[in-house]
Amino acid sequence: MKQDLSVDVAVLGGGPGGYTAAFRAADLGLSVCLVEKYDRLGGVCLNAGCIPSKTLLHCASLIADAESGAEFGVIFAEPKIDLDTVRAKKDSIMKQLAAGLDGLCKARRIVRVTGAGVFKDTTNLAVAGIDGAGIVTFKNAIIATGSHPFVLPGSPDDPRIWDSTAALALKSIPRRLMIIGGGIIGLEMAQVYSAFGSEITIVEMLDHLIPPADKDLVQPLFLRLKKKYRIHTGARVTGIKAQKSSVEVSFSGSGGSETGQYDAVLVAVGRGPNSAGIGLENIGLSPSERGFIAVNERLQTAVPHIFAIGDVIGEPMLAHKATHQGKVAAEVIAGRASSFAPLAIPSVAYTDPEIAWMGLTEKEAKDKGIDYEKGKFSWGASGRALSVGAAIGATKVLFDRKTGRIIGAGICGAHAGELIHEAVLALEMGADAGVISKTIHAHPTLSETFAFASEMVDGSITDILPPKKK
Ligand code: FAD
Ligand code: NAI
Repeated sequence: MKQDLSVDVAVLGGGPGGYTAAFRAADLGLSVCLVEKYDRLGGVCLNAGCIPSKTLLHCASLIADAESGAEFGVIFAEPKIDLDTVRAKKDSIMKQLAAGLDGLCKARRIVRVTGAGVFKDTTNLAVAGIDGAGIVTFKNAIIATGSHPFVLPGSPDDPRIWDSTAALALKSIPRRLMIIGGGIIGLEMAQVYSAFGSEITIVEMLDHLIPPADKDLVQPLFLRLKKKYRIHTGARVTGIKAQKSSVEVSFSGSGGSETGQYDAVLVAVGRGPNSAGIGLENIGLSPSERGFIAVNERLQTAVPHIFAIGDVIGEPMLAHKATHQGKVAAEVIAGRASSFAPLAIPSVAYTDPEIAWMGLTEKEAKDKGIDYEKGKFSWGASGRALSVGAAIGATKVLFDRKTGRIIGAGICGAHAGELIHEAVLALEMGADAGVISKTIHAHPTLSETFAFASEMVDGSITDILPPKKK
């Protein structure tokens, strides 16, 4: 930092939450300084999360698509993987997007400061970076410092024990890869490394993979993965030892105890907020026990001109949540009547098949004692799903029996992550099964399955026999 600055808004953290907040604030006429520790904007999402993982998953899906061609009489030769090109392509996409962010920042005349920021008091942020140290004086601040991966207590410090960033670096393809945590990162990375030739073992503490989603929707994925991977649910790791030629992992659970040798271990057991070391104590804020910063609907912390957004304020830790919150915080600072009160935030696991869900899951609806009606349409009865080799899947929609309105939906199947948004819109608009059933969906499409599931509740389904009314 070359000189001290004074701005309307100081944004701490240049991830999707932070840069979106900075862009929106600048567009609303405020002077903005964006402070980011690294010299690249984009945060975890662009540099070590959403974008690199989806690029590698694309490679995995190309291989899977080529394999599945045989069923349709289209036979490809065994794929050859050129790891250097895979890595270079991934890196070039990240570089291109980062350059786009740099351009957008510059065009908006946002002051970029590269360095780690620490609050000195409620109007001053001290920044220490490669260009030296300085003070950013602000009228308002937005904390968008994101999150970091959890490490397993007692895990040795060894280059063969990876977090998601190390897995995404794709330095080598281990013959035997142990993945601890059967959540989204674990399963997405399993898919990538399995496609590149690793033997995968997954140890998940809870009783099913991707625990936040309904078990019945994850089951088709589980059954498919079980054929390729060794999966231990309801199991806990009891020891990790780095040995000369391998890493030894012991785990035990309902299926008994086991010890195995692995060439690499990916620890993907969740993430925690980056709320330490940023001077919260100097502004009178103390995070929750889990480290999250508390905010109100307008994303104000207990210090009303200091806002917080994204992973650092809690779950779900998703890029699209962070960007929406970034806009709200900027709009509130600019004097608009904005608040962050979405009725649903979609979640997507980019597995094969994909799992996507929004609103209440069926488990949540049951736990809350909500009287609901369910339509669940199996993709085995969808002409489009069969004709594109995507018969494994189901679309489930839940409606409140009292109001008739949609309260949740989940999809397991190809492109579920693209299909879920119609359900999000339906929920935001307060649609009921009748409205969705009468909304004409093009045939043959996978989107039709959302209408079919709703028709099952509406009673107008013809593509299968109508369910018997209870
Ligand atoms: P971050 O992206 O974490 O950005 C915070 C920024 O703040 C960082 O750049 C950090 O360097 C900076 N910072 C921290 N402290 C300081 C400081 N003191 N001074 C200056 N700068 C600081 N989400 C999805 O929605 N879809 C996906 O497909 C998806 N895939 C993912 C895959 C992986 C492997 C991982 C790990 C995450 C994935 N996520 C995905 C989650 C997503 O990346 C995060 O939810 C999102 O990046 C959060 O945005 P954020 O702005 O809150 O924080
Ligand atoms: P996660 O919370 O999704 O999954 C972690 C899993 O590890 C859980 O199933 C949990 O039960 C299990 N676990 C915890 N401790 C364990 C232990 N000791 N032994 C065995 N299993 C254990 O967290 P993950 O996968 O690390 O991802 C972090 C976050 O990043 C996600 O919650 C999500 O917010 C974000 N993300 C989003 C993606 C997307 O939107 N597609 C992709 C990847 C990450």
